[in-house]
Amino acid sequence: MTTKNNNIIQKLLEIVERNEKNYINEGLLYFNTLEHIEDQDFVSFFKKFLNEYNVFYSTYNAKNKEYQCKSGAYRSTEDIFRLSKNYFPQITFLEVIKNLVDLNEKKEIITLWCPDIEKRVWSKLWYEDYLRKPENGSMSTYDKNYISRFQNKTDDLNYDDLKIIWQYLNSPEIKKKEKMFKFQIYTRHPSYQTLRAELKKMPFKTVARFGSTTNIDPLKIKNTKLVEINTVEAVSNSASKLKMMTKFLENDISTAAWFICNKSENDLQFYMCNNQTQEDKINIEDIKYPLIIKSHLGSRGIGNYYIKDKESLLKFCNNRDMNKYIIQEYKTYSREYRLHINALENTCFYTNRKMLKRDAPEETRFQKHANNCVWILEENELFEKPINWDKIVQECSNALKAVGLDIGAVDVLVQAGKNKNGTINSDPRFIIIETSSAPSMGSITTEKYLKELPKIAEKKYQLLNQI
Ligand SMILES: Nc1ncnc2c1ncn2[C@@H]1O[C@H](COP(=O)(O)OP(=O)(O)O)[C@@H](O)[C@H]1O
Ligand SMILES: [Mg+2]
Repeated sequence: MTTKNNNIIQKLLEIVERNEKNYINEGLLYFNTLEHIEDQDFVSFFKKFLNEYNVFYSTYNAKNKEYQCKSGAYRSTEDIFRLSKNYFPQITFLEVIKNLVDLNEKKEIITLWCPDIEKRVWSKLWYEDYLRKPENGSMSTYDKNYISRFQNKTDDLNYDDLKIIWQYLNSPEIKKKEKMFKFQIYTRHPSYQTLRAELKKMPFKTVARFGSTTNIDPLKIKNTKLVEINTVEAVSNSASKLKMMTKFLENDISTAAWFICNKSENDLQFYMCNNQTQEDKINIEDIKYPLIIKSHLGSRGIGNYYIKDKESLLKFCNNRDMNKYIIQEYKTYSREYRLHINALENTCFYTNRKMLKRDAPEETRFQKHANNCVWILEENELFEKPINWDKIVQECSNALKAVGLDIGAVDVLVQAGKNKNGTINSDPRFIIIETSSAPSMGSITTEKYLKELPKIAEKKYQLLNQI
């Protein structure tokens, strides 16, 4: 690039920077009733911006909640930036310019100088605009009203200026500098390979943990903000059945009743949950069967035992180090589901019902697992979606939040949909069995996480920046 060009660009970039600050100070804008946008990335959002969102929604100021502009209006570059930044906080004014010129050059939108507000404005292609200037999306003839570059009191840039910036942003030297970061996945599970390989890069550093309690090397995050999905603490809460059930208790999550066994000399003492006080002591004669005993650090079916009566309980407790187990009431609810939950949005983005295989060995049938079950998709009629599904989703999300996870799977046991006499059970009971911070990734699960993780990262980035 020549020196003369460099000087022009430098000046233009200074204006862009100044404008950006001023626009943010004015307050970001939002489309009324459009709190969340579905688009996963800025470019797809932006494509719909003028053609859809701006056509249907009026605009308000996020700072003072005041009405700002009607729907369907031509919008200034400034407003478009202030709206974009509200939904994509990491977006810069330069990126907005780049996308506007991109769309205009492709003749998907038009731009013109508006003498009323003395600003450049942009619009979707209304029918009249086609009639007015069918061969060219840009209405640059209107720019004649524009006084002169760099002297304009509003600092609003004319189309030629914007195009110079656009060409500069598209130059190979700048493209190389654009920073994108690999989405890091911390896990030791081999089923996460495809997810790790295919996750798209993010404009900020992101780490998501699945079962891993590895800390981030502080040197790697020097001077940069890092989005952390599933903290070390959350993963370790979820990995220990004792910690997890304690968090459930503190947060009032619906689960099966549970207790612990203390051994002093040869005497067995049972206490409610993890409490040790006299009033929480349980008389062994009051214990109801069946029970399930779970090792604190067990997973994937290893470390769980079915206890059918008092005799088996005593035998188990006498032969083991009971500091490592929790004991739980065994529920005979007939349906079991796994829900993959986005706890930031309280949504279930994928789910399966687990059903025992017909030939699953008898001694394994008390617990449903990958090796003795088939996974039924939601679309399959065997899925038999519980009538109170929304309530279940909310409770699963609460369970994830209780342990501190942002995303993960939750296993739920649900009563049958029909009562014994054949009538519909309108509010089937359910219990949360566990949260899992490292569910196995099949091909559909991978596909769903590929979509959900960037959404969660964006959301956490917004929270990090408190916008
Ligand atoms: N309280 C319970 N009542 C009935 N079934 C249970 C109960 N707890 C666990 N199960 C069954 O055992 C399975 C494994 O238990 P879980 O707590 O998820 O341990 P793991 O970490 O081994 O997966 C569950 O998926 C469920 O089928
Ligand atoms: Mg489980």
